Amino acid sequence: MSFGLSHGKKLDPALGSIGISPDELPPIPDEIVHDPDAARLDPRAWFSDPDRPFEIEIGIGKGTFLLQQAALESQTNFLGIEWAHEFYLYAADRCRRHQLANVRILHGNAVEFLRWRCPESFIRVIHLYFSDPWPKKRHHKNRVVQDRFLADAHRILVDQGELRIVTDHENYWHWMQEYFSRWTSDQGVDGMRFCEKPFIAPDSASTGELVGTNFERKYRKEGRPFYSCVLVRMNQTVS
Ligand SMILES: C[S@@+](CC[C@H](N)C(=O)[O-])C[C@H]1O[C@@H](n2cnc3c(N)ncnc32)[C@H](O)[C@@H]1O
Repeated sequence: MSFGLSHGKKLDPALGSIGISPDELPPIPDEIVHDPDAARLDPRAWFSDPDRPFEIEIGIGKGTFLLQQAALESQTNFLGIEWAHEFYLYAADRCRRHQLANVRILHGNAVEFLRWRCPESFIRVIHLYFSDPWPKKRHHKNRVVQDRFLADAHRILVDQGELRIVTDHENYWHWMQEYFSRWTSDQGVDGMRFCEKPFIAPDSASTGELVGTNFERKYRKEGRPFYSCVLVRMNQTVS
């Protein structure tokens, strides 16, 4: 276990309360080779009240947005996903100390989780803030925003559900815009379509902030510009 972020204190992964335990997310079965639906489960069942609206944040970092927004919206269930173990531990420990009953955190790859684990049409909002830009061209394939991700987001969002995005990275923003121009066109992509609308700051953002994550606060001090939008899932393409 690393103690870098915790300044020597032991962090509690809060397995089974905040952190998703291995019992709740069993290994992917071999049948996945023949059946892409074989590993699907219902993440709503991980919450004490599964009937509440459901939102996901991809790449929560230290968990600041998740913590602040979930505290304000106690009637919404929030699942944070983070693949860096140290950040996962730090954020899970923070949420445990704040005793948030409507937050769970998954340690893993969000792109794979959406693709193989999530059922259709159950998420109201996907939050993607300051997603790693992978600036080197040979690493662009690691960027979260790709056709496959947008197809999965479209599949798991409810009708009119939203993918909310903020980034500071100009090149990644241009990359996203190229994808979004196809996905928001009348024809959409493979019969799936989004429409784009302006980003509106959540209630948890402080005055002058777009969303209020740690990276936004750090980059704001450096005077970097930000780029943002919301993709709304549409039921049909325009004929
Ligand atoms: C640049 S940081 C931004 C953190 C936070 N959203 C913020 O704005 O302060 C990106 C975070 O996303 C995580 N991440 C990147 N790709 C991921 C993936 N596919 N699944 C889960 N976490 C991911 C990284 O580990 C990192 O913590």
